[in-house]
Parts: sequence; C-alpha cells; structure tokens
Amino acid sequence: MQIRKHIKRLFILEAIVLIISISIVAQQGKNDTKYAIVMDDDMQDKLSESMARGKEVYADFCMQCHLPDGKGTPNVFPPLAGSDWLVNKRAESIHSIKYGLNGPIKVNGKTYNSAMTSLGLEDEEIADVMNYIMNSWGNTQKNIVTIQEVTDIKK
Ligand code: HEC
Repeated sequence: MQIRKHIKRLFILEAIVLIISISIVAQQGKNDTKYAIVMDDDMQDKLSESMARGKEVYADFCMQCHLPDGKGTPNVFPPLAGSDWLVNKRAESIHSIKYGLNGPIKVNGKTYNSAMTSLGLEDEEIADVMNYIMNSWGNTQKNIVTIQEVTDIKK
C-alpha cells in the first residue's frame, strides 16, 4: 500500500516536471520568433537607410548615363532597371562600379560594347548605391550589400 502511494506521488511529480519543461521550451520558441522579427525590422531599417544614401550617390555619379529611371539609353548605356546582369552578376556589378568596366557585355539579350570608368567611390558609397539600384524601379534584392562584401571584391 505504502509503495503504491509513493509511486502515485512520483507519477504526479513527474507530470508536473514535464508540464513545466514543455512550457519553458514553448516560451523559448516564442522568444526566438520575437528575436527573428526584430532582426528583420533591423535589416529593413538598415536597407532603407543605405538606399537613401545610395540615391544621392546615384544622382551625383550614375544618373547622367543610366538616367533617373534607370532605363539607360538603347545601344549606348545599359539599363539598371530590370537588368538581368545586375541580378545575376552581383559580384561583377560591384566590381564594375569599383574598378570600371569595358568590353562587350550582354544585358537583357542586348550587347553593349562600351566603357564605364571607375568612379573613385568609397566602399560604403558602392554598397549604398548597389542597395539603391538593386531595390529601385521594380528591382528587388532583399539580400543587403554590406561594406565588407564590397571590400572583399578585389581587382
Ligand atoms: C559615363 C557614363 C556612365 C556612368 C557615369 C556610370 N555608368 Fe554604369 N555603365 C556605363 C556603360 C557604358 C556600361 C557598359 C560597359 C560595357 O559595355 O562594358 C555600364 C555598365 C554598368 C553596369 C552593368 C550592366 C548593367 O546595366 O547592369 C552596372 C551595374 C552599372 N553600370 C552601374 C553604374 C553605377 C551604380 C554608376 C554610378 C556609381 C554608374 N554605372 C555610372 C556607363 C556609365
């Protein structure tokens, strides 16, 4: 009889421990999602700030050729708006802004064979202008370009 009582108590104790552990795990899960949402907001803010700076860089250094709407000029200046080159060649795009670009390239099926000189921008300005052109005129690329990514691209 005594032993049975003990076992019963142990059982109840075990059940309580189990319930507490489950609620702790559930709480942790909740906190994780909270943290993830905060991170997303943070990244979104970072991207918006970078794009705002990039817009100024674009107006000062890029607009005269690629135009305010990013459409460029047929056969002369390739478009950035809807450019498959920009989407598919992220590293090359950074490289071209950093060091210049010349020789034949194909953008949206059209060949351009001209030259863009290096514009002497700082790595941060390049990251900002990349974030601007990759998220304007219908372009979207939520994967933010960081200064480190630009720094890592060597000649
Ligand atoms: C003097 C005119 C000129 C200026 C200023 C200029 N570009 Fe370009 N850009 C070109 C030309 C011409 C090409 C194509 C080069 C070739 O044919 O190899 C090009 C190519 C590109 C490309 C790759 C092709 C594409 O359309 O996706 C990107 C990206 C680009 N430019 C971004 C920029 C950014 C950002 C700036 C400003 C920081 C800038 N360019 C300033 C003329 C210019």
